[in-house]
Amino acid sequence: MTNQFIAFWVNHQKDMIGETVDNSSIILSDGKSSKNILTNSPLFWHGSQEPELLSQLNFQKSLLDFSKPVIVLKKNDQWYVSSENALSSESGKWEVIATCPPFLPEFLGDDSFKATYSVKYPLYGGAMANGISAAEFVIALGKSGFMGSFGAGGLLPEKIAKGIKQIQEALIDQPYLINLINSPFEPSLEERTVDLFLQNNIHNIEASAYLTITKNLVRYRASGLTQNPDGSVNIANRLIAKVSRKEVAIKFMEPASDDIVNSLLEEKIITAEQGRLAKLVPMADDITVEADSGGHTDNRPLVSVLPAIIRLRNQMQTKRNYPQPVRIGAAGGIATPESVLAAFMMGAAYVTTGSINQGCLESGASSHTKKLLAQMEMTDVAMAPASDMFEMGVKVQVLKRGTMFAMRAQKLYEIYSRYESMDEIPLLEREKLESTIFKMSLDAVWGECLKFFTLRDPQQIERAEKNPKAKMALIFRWYLGLASRWSNIGEAGREMDYQIWCGPSMGAFNDWVRGTYLENAENRKVADVNLQLLTGATYLYRLNILESHGIRFDSLIKEYRPQM
Ligand SMILES: Cc1cc2nc3c(=O)[nH]c(=O)nc-3n(C[C@H](O)[C@H](O)[C@H](O)COP(=O)(O)O)c2cc1C
Repeated sequence: MTNQFIAFWVNHQKDMIGETVDNSSIILSDGKSSKNILTNSPLFWHGSQEPELLSQLNFQKSLLDFSKPVIVLKKNDQWYVSSENALSSESGKWEVIATCPPFLPEFLGDDSFKATYSVKYPLYGGAMANGISAAEFVIALGKSGFMGSFGAGGLLPEKIAKGIKQIQEALIDQPYLINLINSPFEPSLEERTVDLFLQNNIHNIEASAYLTITKNLVRYRASGLTQNPDGSVNIANRLIAKVSRKEVAIKFMEPASDDIVNSLLEEKIITAEQGRLAKLVPMADDITVEADSGGHTDNRPLVSVLPAIIRLRNQMQTKRNYPQPVRIGAAGGIATPESVLAAFMMGAAYVTTGSINQGCLESGASSHTKKLLAQMEMTDVAMAPASDMFEMGVKVQVLKRGTMFAMRAQKLYEIYSRYESMDEIPLLEREKLESTIFKMSLDAVWGECLKFFTLRDPQQIERAEKNPKAKMALIFRWYLGLASRWSNIGEAGREMDYQIWCGPSMGAFNDWVRGTYLENAENRKVADVNLQLLTGATYLYRLNILESHGIRFDSLIKEYRPQM
C-alpha cells in the first residue's frame, strides 16, 4: 500500500464517521490561479449553504452530479466543494480555486451528428459481421439513445431482410444503421444488398472495407438526393464510411466521380436531377476513422490516424465548402473512459465501439466465446487471414487465447501461396489438413462449397472451375467462413477452431472493469456498457476542467470505475 493510498483510506474513513478531514492528499497542488482568469483578480464564493469539506467521496459524488457545477473552494488552508453557483469578485471568506460547469454525457461530441441521426449520445456500436451485431443488439442501442449497426456482412440478402424487418418493427422513431461491407469477390451480393436497402427505406448505412467507391455505393447515395426549395441538397440516404487510410477517406470526402454518375445516368438507374445533385455532395456524411481494431484492420494507432484524417477533412472543406462538413468519428481501441475522452479531445465528432460489444448479452456470439472474451488480456490477439478477402492476402484481428484458429488459418494461407492447385499439394500435407483442420476429405469440402455457393453466388463456382487456384481458395475459405459461424453458434467440438474477431480494446475493457459488476460477462448489457464509457469520459472531462485552473488531483481520483 502506498502512503498516498493510506492517506486516502484514512481520509475516507474519517469522512464516513464525520470527523474533520485532512484533504491535502486529494488536491496535490494549489491553484496557480485562485483568480478569475479573465480579470486576473481573485474570485470568492457567497453561497447560501455552507460548502462541504472536500473528501474523496463527496468530491467524486459532485463530479458525477453532471447537471450541477463543481466549485472547489479554499478557506484556512482547507479544501471545500460546492455545487452552488454563487461567485463574485467581492471579497469573502471562501476563495474560489476552480470551477467546472454542468456537463452531461450527451454534451460530448458533435451536435450535428446527434441531430442528423436523432441520437442522444455521440456513439454508435459498429457492425459485427454474420449478425453478431444482431437485431437485438441494434434495438437495445437504438432504444437507449445510441445507434447500432446491423452486422449484415456475410449474411445472405434474405437474412438481412429478416433482420431489417425485426429492427424496423421495434425501432419506429429510433435510429439504426445497416452495414454494407465491400465484397470485391462477390459483386452481385453488394448489388442485391443495395436493392434491399432501397426497397426497405434504409436511410442510414455504415459502409466498410471499401478501397474505392463502387457503382452500388453511388446508386444508394444518389437515389436519395433531392433539391430543397431554398436550393440546398436534401440527402435522404446517409452514409457513414468506415476507413483506416487517408487515400480511401478522401474518396468519401469527394462527390461521386463523373464516370460512375454518367454510367448510372446512361443506364437510367438515377435521374438527371440526382446525377446533377450527386456532384454537389460528398459521398459520405461521416467518416469513421478506424484504428487498430477487431476484425478488418490496418492496425494504425488512433493517435496517429485520427488527426491526419481530420486535417484532410479540413483541407477538403476549404476546397469544397460543403454546407455541412464531413464529420469524422473515431473507432478502434475505444473501450475505456480515457480512450473515449482522448478521441473527443482529438476532435472526433463521435466514437464507435466494436470488440467490447461482442462480449455483451445482446450480441450474436455464443456464450463460450463471450466467456473467452471476458478473460482476455490486451496482448491475446493475432492477425489471421480473412475469409472474405483471402486471395488478396488481407488479414483480420482475432482472439488467440483459447482458440487455434489464427495458427490454422495462417497455415492454409501459406499452402495457398505455395501451390497453384489442390493437386499440387503433397499427399502428406493434404492428409494432415484433412485430419487436423477440415476433419473431412478435401473432396467432401469441395462438395460443400458447391452447395453453398450455388445458393449464395454461383459466379464463384464458375470462376473456380476455370481456375484451380481460385478453387483452392474457395475450399480454404470454407474453413475460414465456418470458423466464425462456429464461434457464433457455439459448435461443440470445434472450440479450438472458433474465429473470434477481436481487438486489444477488449483486453483494455476487461482491465478497466475488473473488480466491478461488469467483470462478469453475464452483466454486460450493450447500452449500459456504452453509457458507462461516456459517463466515465464525462467524469474525466470535468476533472480536467478543474485541473485547467492549475490544481492537480491525486491519480486515484482520476479514475472512473463502472458503478451500478
Ligand atoms: C466481431 C467483430 C466483427 C466485426 N465485423 C465488422 C463488419 O462486418 N463490418 C464492419 O464495418 N466492421 C466490423 N467490425 C469492426 C467494428 O464495427 C468496429 O469498427 C471495431 O470493432 C472498432 O474497434 P474495436 O474492436 O477496437 O472496438 C467488427 C468487429 C468485431 C469485433
